[in-house]
Amino acid sequence: MWRSRRNPVIGEGSPYARIMFVGEAPGYYEDLSGRPFVGAAGKVLEENLRRVGLSREVVYITNVIKCRPPGNRDPLPEEIEACTPYLDRQVKIINPDVICTLGRFAMRYMLKKAGVPVSSISRLHGKMFRVRLYGRERILAIMYHPAVALYKPPLRKVFENDFRILERFLQPSLF
Ligand code: URA
Repeated sequence: MWRSRRNPVIGEGSPYARIMFVGEAPGYYEDLSGRPFVGAAGKVLEENLRRVGLSREVVYITNVIKCRPPGNRDPLPEEIEACTPYLDRQVKIINPDVICTLGRFAMRYMLKKAGVPVSSISRLHGKMFRVRLYGRERILAIMYHPAVALYKPPLRKVFENDFRILERFLQPSLF
């Protein structure tokens, strides 16, 4: 898949971020620019960050997959296997208190890693788990992918409501 990419999309944001967002894979505009979530789904993400008093600059944003899958198809298991060592390093370096998964691929990867039984995203979205993850206690927050707000309009409000659970973690007293 790296053969067909224009740019790898590693991630961006604050090295001191307390919250890390993990999406699925770069799309067309991310591939062109080398930056995560700069297309339509990124607009939805930015809007929701703003609503809870956050911005791209204070969080860290990355993906499970670092190169755009041709034609935006779902990532293959071997692609996830090839890319996740980079994601694991990113989590260890940034060391966020909260990991927020956007969509089912990031959800599945982090739930497995935390030893939490995987279920469907329609059951788990909006939930938070206090887990041991990458060697310390962290909050794992499960969200739909922001693109759902675009292709399933009734889920826009659901995504917005789920996003508000993050407000709780903006007070330093919790850790
Ligand atoms: N969708 C994702 O999952 N990640 C991006 O960076 C862009 C769109």
